[in-house]
Amino acid sequence: MPVTLHNGDCLEVLQQLEPLEVDLVYMDPPFGVGRRMAGRDGTRFDDLLEDPADYMAFMRPRLESVLRHLHEDGIILLHCDWRQVHHLRLALDELMGRDAFVNQLVWRYGLGGSSPRRFARKHDDILFYARSQSYHFKPPLVPATSQRLKGQMKKATDVLDIPAINNMAHERTGWPTQKPIALLKLLIEACCPESGHVLDPFCGSGTTLVAAADTGRNATGIDLSEEALRLTRQRLAECEETISKAPSR
Ligand SMILES: C[S@@+](CC[C@H](N)C(=O)[O-])C[C@H]1O[C@@H](n2cnc3c(N)ncnc32)[C@H](O)[C@@H]1O
Repeated sequence: MPVTLHNGDCLEVLQQLEPLEVDLVYMDPPFGVGRRMAGRDGTRFDDLLEDPADYMAFMRPRLESVLRHLHEDGIILLHCDWRQVHHLRLALDELMGRDAFVNQLVWRYGLGGSSPRRFARKHDDILFYARSQSYHFKPPLVPATSQRLKGQMKKATDVLDIPAINNMAHERTGWPTQKPIALLKLLIEACCPESGHVLDPFCGSGTTLVAAADTGRNATGIDLSEEALRLTRQRLAECEETISKAPSR
């Protein structure tokens, strides 16, 4: 499936492109942490806008630009955390209408320490908005945990238990805040029709694009960092090799 990559500020790139009419936008922007995010081998990106007013002044025009590329039945999944989720949710309510809200998904990743001062923060939020009521949704199946249904599958709830990438994982690229491929595959298979088109305007190391290619979707990725796109190309090449080596059914 074709994957197209663009290097640059997603605002500028999205303004220059003809409308893509994508079925799904997954976006995982900087979270408003207020520091430089550093990964392995010197990889890094700036996440400096801690103040909500500055952060939303950055995000709002980018959300508007993304909407110009969304199909009339398309879906936005916006990945964020406790820092800005309330501001982003209000902005999406305003830009898409409150009726467009579908879910506030919780990605429970399990890693991290504890705190003597508060409940330990162990999840991210993923805001799910749909442009119309005819959006595509195929409920993902996950292993049941109750004793009664042990060994069976059940429809996923709005809490997704997927481990964060550990230091030894084969999929680890070293890019800071890289998301697990299992999370992206689950989201894409649920929210994008087969052979549909996924856009990730903050694609980082390319997790969304690899998951899209692996599940037979087209994809467009944008990132400010050339290094991120180099990692993305490398991962896509490996994924293509795996797909072409897979026995045909
Ligand atoms: C949270 S990371 C994305 C991680 C990605 N989901 C992954 O699995 O590797 C955010 C990304 O946004 C990129 N970025 C920051 N500002 C940007 C902008 N204005 N336009 C495009 N990309 C940007 C950063 O370089 C970084 O790769």
